[in-house]
Formats: sequence, C-alpha cells, structure tokens
Amino acid sequence: EKDGHDWFMRKEIFEQPRAVADSLLGRRTPAGLLHLDEMRLSDDELRDVTKIIIIACGTSFYAGMVAKYAIEHWTRTPVEVELASEFRYRDPILDYSTLVVAISQSGETADTLQAIRHARTQRSKVLAICNTNGSTIPRESDAVIYTHAGPEIGVASTKGFLTQLVACYLLALYVAQVKGTRYGDEITEIVHQLEEMPDHIATVLESAEQVYELARSHLDTRSVLFLGRHAGYPVALEGALKLKELAYIHAEGFAAGELKHGPIALIEEGMPVLCVVPPQGRDQLHEKMISGIQEVRARGARTICLAEEGDTKIEPYADVLIRLPKVPVLLQPLVAIVPLQLFACELATAMGHDVDQPRNLAKSVTVE
Ligand code: M6R
Repeated sequence: EKDGHDWFMRKEIFEQPRAVADSLLGRRTPAGLLHLDEMRLSDDELRDVTKIIIIACGTSFYAGMVAKYAIEHWTRTPVEVELASEFRYRDPILDYSTLVVAISQSGETADTLQAIRHARTQRSKVLAICNTNGSTIPRESDAVIYTHAGPEIGVASTKGFLTQLVACYLLALYVAQVKGTRYGDEITEIVHQLEEMPDHIATVLESAEQVYELARSHLDTRSVLFLGRHAGYPVALEGALKLKELAYIHAEGFAAGELKHGPIALIEEGMPVLCVVPPQGRDQLHEKMISGIQEVRARGARTICLAEEGDTKIEPYADVLIRLPKVPVLLQPLVAIVPLQLFACELATAMGHDVDQPRNLAKSVTVE
C-alpha cells in the first residue's frame, strides 16, 4: 500500500505529479473555457464579489497566502488571508458581497468550520476548497472546489498542499474569466502552464538524492531559517512548518525583505538558511532576493538556494544550489516546496522519527 516506499509521507510526495494532474482534469469546456463542477455560484453572484477572505489553518493557510498573490494579480479583487482561529473573534467585516474561501484538506478542521458558520450568519457566500468528499466543511458551504489528491495518510500535508494550490489557481482564473479581468487567450496560456507542472514536479523529484544527502548532513542542526519573497514567502513558511512537524527542529520562515528589520540578528556562523529564489524576471524580485542572501552569507550563514535552471547570478552566493525548472513566478510554489518536503522527510527519518505520525499531532484537528 506504500508502493515500495518506507513511509506514506514519502509515497505521497512522489504521488504529487499525479495528484496535480488529476486536480486539473476536466476543468475545460470543449470551447476552451474554464469550468468548475461544484462552483454553484452564478456568474452574477461572482461578479458582485468585491472582497475575498481566505480562511484556513496550518499548511492550508500557506496555500491561501499563495492564492492571494494569484487572485489579486489576475482578478484585481482585494483578498485577505486569515488564520481561521483568529477570524471569528475579531468581529470581521462581512456582507453579501464578501466571498469567504475556506481551504481545508480534511474538511473537518473545527477552527475553519466555526469560521465559515460565522461568515454565513453574516450573509457571506462560502466556497470550500477540500480534498474529502462529503465532509462537513463542503457540506456547509455554498460552493466547493474538490482537489483530487486522493487520501492523504501522512499527518504532514504534502500532496494536499500542492492540489490546494492548483484549486486556488483555478479559482483565480475562473473569477478572472467571469469578471473579464483577463483575456481568454491569457487564461488558456496559464492553464497550459499549469498542465505542464506535473512534468516539472517529476523533474524535481528526480533529484531527490541530492536533497537526501543534504538532509543527512544536517543531523546535528538545532535551528534552520527559510527565506522567500512574493509567492516564495509562503513556501518558506511551509518549508519551516514541515521541518518543525517532522524533525522537531526549530525552524522559522521569513519574508526576505524583513531580515534587516530584526531576524538577521539570529544569524550565526554556519547556520543553514534555505532560500527560495524567485525566477529571474523583469521586476526586481530576483535582485532583491540575492541581496538578502548576500547579507546573511556575509554574517556566516550557510546558504542553501533553490533557484531556476540557468540562473547564474545566484551561483557566487549559494553554498549549495538546488535547481528548479523554469516556471512563472506565481506557479513556482508548486515546484519550490518539493525539495523542502524531501529535506524534512529525509532529515526526520534519518533521526529515527515516525514521519507518518509525528508526536503531538493529529491528522485532523476537530477541536477548537
Ligand atoms: O485539514 P486541514 O487542511 O483543514 O488541516 C489544516 C492543518 O491542520 C494542517 O494543514 C496541518 O497544519 C498539517 N499538519 C500540516 O502538515
């Protein structure tokens, strides 16, 4: 049942190309328009949406952070992302023109469920992104986008996260189609790019051995930092969460631009810093990230950089370089998280930990 893998988690990491492909299946009409089966909100209802609030916990929350970048860029609709456990207790401003998007792999997370119940009392529409058919959160929502990861057994979410990202991109593109904020050709082009992602993820998995060796050389590490910018920032947070959950190592993710506002004080000689380097583009993201990496390296950090093929500018600043396929910046989380999952999984198993059932954690958290 583990398909020859030692742990469900490892099996699930290697299933990701298939899970992403399945989550993209059947989403287009013969005319090339995007179609979402259980959308259930009419075009008029979607056109009336003036604000989107995404609520989720843990890994699903980080998928929501990526979604904010994509939805705002493609649809020009303002998006807030909030931890479900904080949402209800701050008296959020909600009405019929607010779309609340609840992201939950299990569909049973109590914090997220209570948050959508609250949103519905305020007349907001609720859309669930969920991996579990018939679970409570989609049953109590107005609309659903099901992800097709298949059952996720490992307590740490891996394929669940990637398929949530796919669902978020599809939602963003669908809203762009309905609101007319992007041309049809442009939407089709991005869907094509999404359809190429399973192959790109498979390419990253082919270099698992490099990441495993790296992980095994970190058995005595007490603390690891993760840096990212833009869509790479939630990837840094998710990479840190994986390491905490599985290896019980202190790990923190930071937005690279925040370093100089405090976290850089943590850097000590030899401290590993994993850096998610954005693709080289016309904007200044890439240059800004490199200058952050230079700063931590100058203070003794050991920089482990994930950067796209052909990025030579990063080479002088990377103590270890892990290559990623060339993909658009908004889609980069789909490939960039994979080495971080492999790193955490391998380090934890090499330390002798059970990665399917980490201590103190439950697969679905049904108490608030
Ligand atoms: O089932 P959900 O997506 O609602 O679960 C949310 C979190 O509990 C979950 O992502 C948790 O953070 C995982 N342990 C992450 O690996």
